[in-house]
Amino acid sequence: MNNKIPFNKPCVVGTELAYVSEAIASGHQSGNRPLSNRCQRILESDIVCARALLTPSCTHALELAALLLDIGPGDEVIMPSFTFVSTANAFALRGATVVFADICPQTLNLDPVAVANAITPRTRAIVPVHYAGVPCDMQPIMALSRKYNIAVVEDAAQAIGSRYQGKPVGSFGQLAAVSFHETKNLTSGGEGGALLINDASLADLRSISPTYTATTKFMPSQSKSASARMGAIAGSAAQVTDVVVENTAPEY
Ligand SMILES: Cc1ncc(COP(=O)(O)O)c(C=O)c1O
Repeated sequence: MNNKIPFNKPCVVGTELAYVSEAIASGHQSGNRPLSNRCQRILESDIVCARALLTPSCTHALELAALLLDIGPGDEVIMPSFTFVSTANAFALRGATVVFADICPQTLNLDPVAVANAITPRTRAIVPVHYAGVPCDMQPIMALSRKYNIAVVEDAAQAIGSRYQGKPVGSFGQLAAVSFHETKNLTSGGEGGALLINDASLADLRSISPTYTATTKFMPSQSKSASARMGAIAGSAAQVTDVVVENTAPEY
């Protein structure tokens, strides 16, 4: 008898193999194909964001967010230390200084008062992490964003389907990232993620990722990111296609 309690059990909804077969039969296995596009459109309508882009992981989506915001040396980015390492690495990789702010006991998520105390003239972004699906207190965080003109990148890796004051997480910040890793609420064949772009002025990815553009104007060597697209096999298995994204966590 196996007495071990597994850390996680990947979510299986039953339609994955049919969609993977459909992708193979279509003769195309790269991203930006009908099944991946359908999945992106569903994310856009369920989260209500200007653009959703399937990525190989949430880590990759966070790295794209740092590139889109043109984060660099001298910039400060405020986030909780109670998170997965990708949250900090995405910004540290660009040379930014990661500033850890404390969490509050009610949510175990970023404390808006601690964020306010950590803001300096060099602060370029705030990264609230909706840990374990519990939404951060977004109202005061977005008020700070507006007051000081600082971007908010929601790390919603663990929180697709959660809502704050009736609105889906991932729809508050200028940018947000979700994960479809097998430990998360929904998966896309084990690994995967999405970048959610709420600020339409950030939706042009040409200069950072040629794989998301139909133009040849920017060659891969001129761009700042390697391939950032999720392949069609994973895209077709993405469960957002078949799961109505429902509230998976208590509303804050
Ligand atoms: C809060 C948080 N951010 C980012 C990530 C990275 O997600 P991925 O494994 O899809 O790159 C994780 C993964 O566990 C996470 O928990």
